[in-house]
Amino acid sequence: MEELGERKNSILGGDDIQPVHLRKPPAQRKIRPYDFWRSIGSPKFVVAPMVDNSDLAFRMQTRNYGATLAYTQMLNSNSFVNSKECRSNLFQTCDEDRPLFAQLAGCEPTMILKAAKFVEDRCDAVDMNFGCPQGIAKRGRYGAFLMEELELLDDIVRTLVEGLNIPVTCKTRIYHDFDRTIRLCETLYNAGAYALTIHGRTREEKGQFICKPDWDTLKRIKDHFRRKDIPIPIIANGGIETMDDVMRCLEYTGCDAVMTSEGILENPSLFSRNITTDGIRVNQIYLAGMLVGLAFSYVTYLVGI
Ligand SMILES: Cc1cc2nc3c(=O)[nH]c(=O)nc-3n(C[C@H](O)[C@H](O)[C@H](O)COP(=O)(O)O)c2cc1C
Repeated sequence: MEELGERKNSILGGDDIQPVHLRKPPAQRKIRPYDFWRSIGSPKFVVAPMVDNSDLAFRMQTRNYGATLAYTQMLNSNSFVNSKECRSNLFQTCDEDRPLFAQLAGCEPTMILKAAKFVEDRCDAVDMNFGCPQGIAKRGRYGAFLMEELELLDDIVRTLVEGLNIPVTCKTRIYHDFDRTIRLCETLYNAGAYALTIHGRTREEKGQFICKPDWDTLKRIKDHFRRKDIPIPIIANGGIETMDDVMRCLEYTGCDAVMTSEGILENPSLFSRNITTDGIRVNQIYLAGMLVGLAFSYVTYLVGI
């Protein structure tokens, strides 16, 4: 793992001592990030991208219980471009499924742009996965294994920002070294990202090494971008299990929104504290039954591509 962590050349860009984000002019965004954020309702309660889980029925269920933004699962750009079956199986949506961010993964800017073109008319933003720490991402050269390749990250995000009619956002992780974390975030910002989701754990903090997410670093990142002439929303991610966690995280970090994954998988009504809009308390069995019902009902009017 550390072999990647030690590749300082790609961080500094060969013999140039300036990091990527200081060497290139900022990418031109089409609208101000906070204008975009307001246009989708300034969401605070976000359902994470989750392979094999954040499908249309699940997204709609969480929306019914207070989620104000949802993501598709990560879509591998190569498979997505090359397989119609992959597109129709993994990207299904409907008019009520908004705001929606479609998440892509990959390492070839033009291939990722091609994949994004398939979804750009059916979602509100394209999100880049620069945070997946799994072995499959290492083998496929995507996710958190691109965190040191700042030139490439810049290239991917810029290519999307220039080639798409909708905003581009990024999801990534932190380092224990704050300067390094900021260099990563600044690269994404300068390349034109409209928002960043930061998982408050390092690439190594997974499985048996999982630990509490670092809210202090999330707060420092938020404070850093708050001071910009053109600020961007920051979404906090990691370790959110209850609505009390959501509120504490928003208050402590000052972030614009909180994203949950495992917490909302376990409890799709997390954001509404298990209460329906009619004031009825729901439990896991009821929710499981509802999810099956939703899966059937959305089959009838899926819009695949
Ligand atoms: C089942 C599952 C699937 C996931 N799939 C994705 C994915 O497709 N893209 C992504 O960026 N992160 C993915 N993640 C990571 C989550 O989005 C999130 O960053 C991580 O689980 C930390 O949040 P949590 O502590 O709320 O679970 C996945 C996590 C889980 C549990």
